[in-house]
Amino acid sequence: MGNLTFEHGGNIYQAQRQYKRKFLDFSANINPLGLTPQIKEAIYKNFGSILHYPDPEAKNITRKIAQYWGIKEENVLVGNGSIELIYLIVSTFKPKTTLIPIPTFSEYERAARCIKSKINFLRLKEKLRFELPSAKINQADILFLCNPNNPTGNLILTDYRIIEKLPIKLVVIDEAFMDFLPDEKKHTLIWKAQKNKRIIVLRTFTKFFALAGLRIGYLVAHQSIVNKLRQYKIPWSVNSFAQLAAELILADKEYIRKARQLIEQEKKFLFNELAKIKKLTPYPSVANFLLIKISDAKFTSSLLREKLIQNGILIRDCTNFRGLNNKFIRVAVRSHNENLKLVEALKEVI
Ligand SMILES: Cc1ncc(COP(=O)(O)O)c(C=O)c1O
Repeated sequence: MGNLTFEHGGNIYQAQRQYKRKFLDFSANINPLGLTPQIKEAIYKNFGSILHYPDPEAKNITRKIAQYWGIKEENVLVGNGSIELIYLIVSTFKPKTTLIPIPTFSEYERAARCIKSKINFLRLKEKLRFELPSAKINQADILFLCNPNNPTGNLILTDYRIIEKLPIKLVVIDEAFMDFLPDEKKHTLIWKAQKNKRIIVLRTFTKFFALAGLRIGYLVAHQSIVNKLRQYKIPWSVNSFAQLAAELILADKEYIRKARQLIEQEKKFLFNELAKIKKLTPYPSVANFLLIKISDAKFTSSLLREKLIQNGILIRDCTNFRGLNNKFIRVAVRSHNENLKLVEALKEVI
């Protein structure tokens, strides 16, 4: 299997190099509200901090995260994006067997491969609305659950009691897109994770808080798990600007409210418009992106991607998602004008 399998959306650099132009990026699922003026200003003001190492314990942001959720600092570990924490979990616990429902985010597989874990895949079926077939889950050391799932956009876990019954030693729940749900408090397992030694919850500032380039995420787990992971973590992996920006944005209630409102409204608009295009079927999503099926013999996802590139638009061709094929694309929900441009371009090329 070549490297291509693990390519992600959001590689605007490669696209700009190849096509020598700028793009509207629908391939990465990042909040279109973007950076706030407060964050820009704080970064300019704190430029001098580059001279020093960042706080290796990321104390201030760890405290803010703990306060935000009403949990203890000892239950929080901050990393260089949630990706650092995925690799850290796998390299620390060295699971002999890893279970991954597919289609899903490909880095769980890549991290497990790095330590030569035996990987079992469990297919999420389209006709079962990509829900987790929990009765079919066999024993494994680690199970990765992406909730809501990327790229399908649904909650694959809606009932915590299911986890309690699973024959799995450690369940890692990646909640990278959970912030987009207006009722996220009902669905997040953060409060369960702080007490339960079998659960780790991953969160990120990349998507909802639009800090993709700064690289900051965190996990919530039982104190004994956090302590163990801390021993193996790379020091200074979270830079000073990332720590600072995350602190500011987490305190910005208005940003959080506006982002949820914008995405809910625009998702409805985009979904309805896409559903009107005959050869496209969008799937319902609780996140800030839509998986779309192409039902036209002539069109593949890569052909559609190429055609949209000519219109200055980047989408995610889902061919390399294990469990999907060249009939699926994924698009982010962006601002109204951008969404309109996407819909117009799709109507034109299909
Ligand atoms: C489900 C999921 N988890 C984690 C990540 C990685 O996020 P981060 O930027 O926090 O490393 C992504 C990025 O695409 C993702 O889709």
